[in-house]
Amino acid sequence: MDLGLTDHVAIVTGASRGIGKGIALRLAEEGCHIAICARGEEALEAAADEIEAHGVACLALPMDVTEEGEPERLVAETAERFGQINVIVGNVGGNRRGQFEDLSDDDWEFILDLNFKSHIRTSRAAIPHLREAGGGAICYITSIFGRELGGAGLSAYNSTKSALISLSKVMAQELTPEGIRVNSVAPGSIRFPGGSWDRRMKEQPEKMKAFIAENLPIGRFGRVEEVADTVAFLVSERASLVTGACLNVDGGQSHSLI
Ligand SMILES: NC(=O)c1ccc[n+]([C@@H]2O[C@H](COP(=O)([O-])OP(=O)(O)OC[C@H]3O[C@@H](n4cnc5c(N)ncnc54)[C@H](OP(=O)(O)O)[C@@H]3O)[C@@H](O)[C@H]2O)c1
Repeated sequence: MDLGLTDHVAIVTGASRGIGKGIALRLAEEGCHIAICARGEEALEAAADEIEAHGVACLALPMDVTEEGEPERLVAETAERFGQINVIVGNVGGNRRGQFEDLSDDDWEFILDLNFKSHIRTSRAAIPHLREAGGGAICYITSIFGRELGGAGLSAYNSTKSALISLSKVMAQELTPEGIRVNSVAPGSIRFPGGSWDRRMKEQPEKMKAFIAENLPIGRFGRVEEVADTVAFLVSERASLVTGACLNVDGGQSHSLI
């Protein structure tokens, strides 16, 4: 299936490793020029080299998206470099685990800035460029634990991921009339070298085997490529009727009925 993304320009936040890098590589395979960001420069440059190996251009901007003005700089420099922006993938995210009572204002501010406000700021800056390009697509990487209970200790993660789904639904109502579709993807447990599930698998293999047997009907962790394929479809014209949706990519892990 030709996704029709050749020569489109996509921003992927938090793309020096893991799911973000996988998405950037998948979009590069489709012929998109890519802008990526992350804090660590070395891994970011290495990711940019991998992306450019697909014959597209890559702008790699080291930055902390929680810092004031940085999401806006990401968008401005991408527009300047490529002259257009068609796709935004808000992938960056993290966790501050802890009982609700133990989380401080600083913890909440950190996770709100990273998991929620960075996406607001990137999209708000990018929407005029998408509009100018005649339309486009935004896709946020949330989590199955934004659609349902993640469990004790996950109040910051769970609530910011739910907020992102809520945001994308409202944005879809407002922007779809202008040809800008907004969706989100909710991964289950995704394993990749150096990622948190990979680390846990190596540290506690027996516990993780039991986790898989109990929680993952597909019998294994998800792969970055499986999330990336879904995102590539959603930001392409092939998904022209899909907007305001949140798609699980979880091998049957989640239990939510909605
Ligand atoms: N892996 C899973 O099983 C899973 C499941 C459900 C949802 N998700 C979601 O999927 C997304 C990606 O997850 P992942 O597991 O691939 O994450 P990850 O391995 O932690 O990678 C996060 C990426 O974002 C960058 N980053 C982190 N903080 C940043 C900041 N303040 N400013 C700019 N860049 C920053 C990281 O590079 P630097 O550290 O160098 O900045 C890295 O490139 C997240 O939103 C996560 O919540 C993941």
